Amino acid sequence: MPLPARLRPAALAACAALAAAVPLLAWQSAGGPASPSAAPPASAYVHAASPVAAGRYLTIVGGCNDCHTERWGETDGKIPEAERLAGNPVGYRGPWGTTYAANLRMLTQRMTEDRWVQTLKTADGGDGSPPMPWMNTAQMSDRDLRAMYRYIRGLGPRGERMPRGVPPGQEPTTPYVSFTPVQPGGSTR
Ligand code: HEC
Repeated sequence: MPLPARLRPAALAACAALAAAVPLLAWQSAGGPASPSAAPPASAYVHAASPVAAGRYLTIVGGCNDCHTERWGETDGKIPEAERLAGNPVGYRGPWGTTYAANLRMLTQRMTEDRWVQTLKTADGGDGSPPMPWMNTAQMSDRDLRAMYRYIRGLGPRGERMPRGVPPGQEPTTPYVSFTPVQPGGSTR
């Protein structure tokens, strides 16, 4: 259902707020960086003609482009495949500070496949911050995680490293989206 153009920014912002709410709540109740504890399902995986085809599908339905591809939401996903997953220089600012969705095209060139699986299973060894949905990728099967790696690595290198994360309370030097929840009346508590 195409939205009237003038409604789009508001609708997109609402989606972003919804997407942010879940990781934020998880982060707050855990009192810090996500630490996935539930055992992943042992055997679920995507069936496709090849690992690369599975990876392409998974990066779309798994939402990776939403954050790791610039302007994915604004263009209704009409970003050519060759330009996808090269990171997003618009930060995500919340109680965790400001984080940037990494350039996965460059990352998969320098990171091994085993390390990629480990990173996504362990919330980067416990160091990972929101709004990256670490609690979801921790539940993906190794087979699906490996398929995404092979697809993204196969797209080849593109772009640059994204800016370093900024600690809480420090002003970012890039544009950013604010994920600080605001109560009716304007209170942030
Ligand atoms: C809601 C936004 C969002 C979505 C959706 C998302 N990411 Fe992320 N991702 C981020 C952010 C922000 C970071 C940086 C987190 C940090 O600094 O700890 C990140 C970090 C990562 C990292 C670690 C990069 C590094 O330098 O070690 C990997 C790998 C990754 N994401 C892969 C994925 C994959 C695969 C998907 C889809 C299944 C995905 N992400 C979906 C926002 C997102």
